[in-house]
Amino acid sequence: MAREAVFHDGDDEPDEDLVSDVPSVPVDLEDRQLDETLRPKRLEDVLGQRKVVERIKIILDATRKRGDTLGHLLLDGPPGIGKTTLATVIPRELGVDVQMAAGPALDAPKDLLPYLTNAGHNSVLFIDEIHRLRPAVEEFLYPAMEDFRIDIALGDGLNARTINMQLKPFTVIGATTRAGMLTAPMRDRFVYREHLDFYELEDLIEIVRRNARKLRTSITDEAAHEVARRSQGTPRKANNILMRTRDFATLRDPNGEITTKIADDALQLLEIDVLGLERQDRRYLETVMDVFAGGPAGLQAIAHSMSIPPDTLEDDIEPFLLRSGLIQRTPRGRVVTSAAYAHVGRSRPHG
Ligand SMILES: Nc1ncnc2c1ncn2[C@@H]1O[C@H](COP(=O)(O)OP(=O)(O)O)[C@@H](O)[C@H]1O
Ligand SMILES: [Mg+2]
Repeated sequence: MAREAVFHDGDDEPDEDLVSDVPSVPVDLEDRQLDETLRPKRLEDVLGQRKVVERIKIILDATRKRGDTLGHLLLDGPPGIGKTTLATVIPRELGVDVQMAAGPALDAPKDLLPYLTNAGHNSVLFIDEIHRLRPAVEEFLYPAMEDFRIDIALGDGLNARTINMQLKPFTVIGATTRAGMLTAPMRDRFVYREHLDFYELEDLIEIVRRNARKLRTSITDEAAHEVARRSQGTPRKANNILMRTRDFATLRDPNGEITTKIADDALQLLEIDVLGLERQDRRYLETVMDVFAGGPAGLQAIAHSMSIPPDTLEDDIEPFLLRSGLIQRTPRGRVVTSAAYAHVGRSRPHG
């Protein structure tokens, strides 16, 4: 079914529901620069996620061999896990151009239009946070993904006409922290879907070692282990901790080396505990314990008590707590487990 996008004169009032859906926590600029410095450039530098990397390698080899356009690819997984990394590595491996867009920044079909018309033959269009695309933008994207074609409706009433435009074949790589929030028609348009999960300790240790080398910093094996262990299975967190411990080492170690003692001190100052929980994570647990007697508590209620947007809780805080067995999701809400009580040093209330 062909869908048309109507281009108005800019008098469109944005839908209120969608406005409140825009993330309120901007990406830290420092984080972004750090990402660029340490981001792997080639597929062979992408550590861990072995099955995913293996499958992507096959997809790329087959695409190259056929001389085809890569099928649309959806990457999902928690923040800082390597989605953007893969989305930049893949076009480099294929030797094609890439454009980067972000779902929340595309207010209307006209914002997507330049990306589509600029998309070169076999190039990649990366759309981050693709679950946040507005419905009108999403519908405009469907025929572009399916038939490399867009329908543009110009004008209204008697003057209305539709322009049909052919695009060059291109690939959408979508990234999302919430595959579940993607509409079914959007999900169906991706030929390939890959889920990135938290990293194994061994892989994170290797990432820490390699990135220390990139930063021309030496780190002992034990300290690399400690940093990795307390990074929530997430490379971006490992990188951030590495940077902070490096500052400590610069100031305190005569050789600027990151030792276990220095890593420990830095982690303590950063309030990252032995499980890798940060202040916000512990606050989450304590809120459910104190305000909701351990749960079950609804996401909205917890978010309200903490004055943190529910999306942030669901994207940034809950996945690791769930994975660590500190909370559980039940049909009636979130529940903290005995392990969580033990971890924060409280006893579970009886009753
Ligand atoms: N598989 C990996 N191997 C090595 N480093 C990685 C890997 N995945 C992520 N990183 C590091 O973590 C940083 C954040 O990853 P990124 O791709 O931006 O995460 P996401 O887009 O999923 O939020 C990157 O800049 C990179 O330094
Ligand atoms: Mg990203």
